[in-house]
Amino acid sequence: MAVISQRAHKISPSPTLAITAKAKAMQAEGIDVVNFGAGEPDFDTPQFIKDAAVKSLAAGFTKYTPTAGTADLKKAIVEKLKRENGLDYATNQIIVSLGAKHSIYNAVLATVDPGDEVIIPAPYWVSYPEIVGMAEGKAVYVDADESTGFTVPIEKLRDAVTPNTKMLILNSPSNPTGGVYNRAQIEQIAELAVEKGFYVLSDEIYEKIIYDGREHVSIASLGDEIKKLTITINGFSKAFSMTGWRLGYAAADKEIVSAMAAIQSHSASNLVSFTQPAAVAALNGPSEVVGAMVSEFDKRRKHIVSRLNDIRGITCAMPGGAFYVFPNVSQLFGREFNGKKITDSDSFANYLLEDAKVAVVAGSGFGAGNYVRLSYATSMECIDKGLDRIAEAVAKLG
Ligand SMILES: Cc1ncc(COP(=O)(O)O)c(C=O)c1O
Repeated sequence: MAVISQRAHKISPSPTLAITAKAKAMQAEGIDVVNFGAGEPDFDTPQFIKDAAVKSLAAGFTKYTPTAGTADLKKAIVEKLKRENGLDYATNQIIVSLGAKHSIYNAVLATVDPGDEVIIPAPYWVSYPEIVGMAEGKAVYVDADESTGFTVPIEKLRDAVTPNTKMLILNSPSNPTGGVYNRAQIEQIAELAVEKGFYVLSDEIYEKIIYDGREHVSIASLGDEIKKLTITINGFSKAFSMTGWRLGYAAADKEIVSAMAAIQSHSASNLVSFTQPAAVAALNGPSEVVGAMVSEFDKRRKHIVSRLNDIRGITCAMPGGAFYVFPNVSQLFGREFNGKKITDSDSFANYLLEDAKVAVVAGSGFGAGNYVRLSYATSMECIDKGLDRIAEAVAKLG
């Protein structure tokens, strides 16, 4: 009898976490690696948020909490969704989990049956297909390309819908492309979902990291019918620089939230007790904290795109949100240096790590093998140092 289940055999470890681990291991060996792999802001969690956690810990808030989150935190989330997203949820329509990833996992497990089709626009965040696979759902990929700012035209989505379509995963702003759907596009998706009766899992984790005056539109805010079909996902990792705290949440119809809570009650029980008052502080705290972070990201975004486009053989579109750039490196395929041939995004990423000591993530893990992903959640100094090295490594390719 095999030790490892067939289910576990089908899961690939996260390539984004793997490259970060590899870069950190090289750094620990004393190698000077420039790391563009990490999907986390380089800023510290704001002090007032940390203070709230310390205070609650000191006050002995260290026991089990309700599975779906404390009443205070759910209330703060309800208020946030109303204030910032135009969404009207009751507290029994909210569930807080150990990160947005955990919320997505619970949401998919609560709604997708074996054989159900889940439409995933590609390039996609690495965990969506794996989570759909764990639920034994069938991932249906629909390609988005650079010409439409990495958003999928509505006709393509419509063509992908079948009677078995249970869900569409929408991620705007997107990881890895930074693509942002505008209001008209979100309206079209909402109409299609209502017409065909499929659910929309709307991953809005990068909602605040958005540039050039673009508007973030929460699809569930477009009417009661689409709201009933939407599971809105959000969290604290990106907006408040709280990746290590593991705090995310979902808002949906009560029936879905109850099913998610049942799953959570037998796996995680509840999220960490003393992080919850800190999450309340984050939601109710000053918004300038986020604004300052976004304006710094914006400067880096423009700088890194311009430096990438200066390298012959690389082209990079300007992303509208998040903190990633997704340059096309396919013109480099077929070239080589010292016997190392670049054949795809993986061999290019390996070449950069080994030869130039620069960590980027190959696009293959995101369903886009002509690209690599660089996170600019790192200082300007590191961006320049890394880009100098990439330019040099690319110039060496014959
Ligand atoms: C698109 C997307 N959704 C969800 C997450 C998960 O965030 P969390 O840290 O809250 O689990 C990430 C993190 O990289 C992400 O990029």
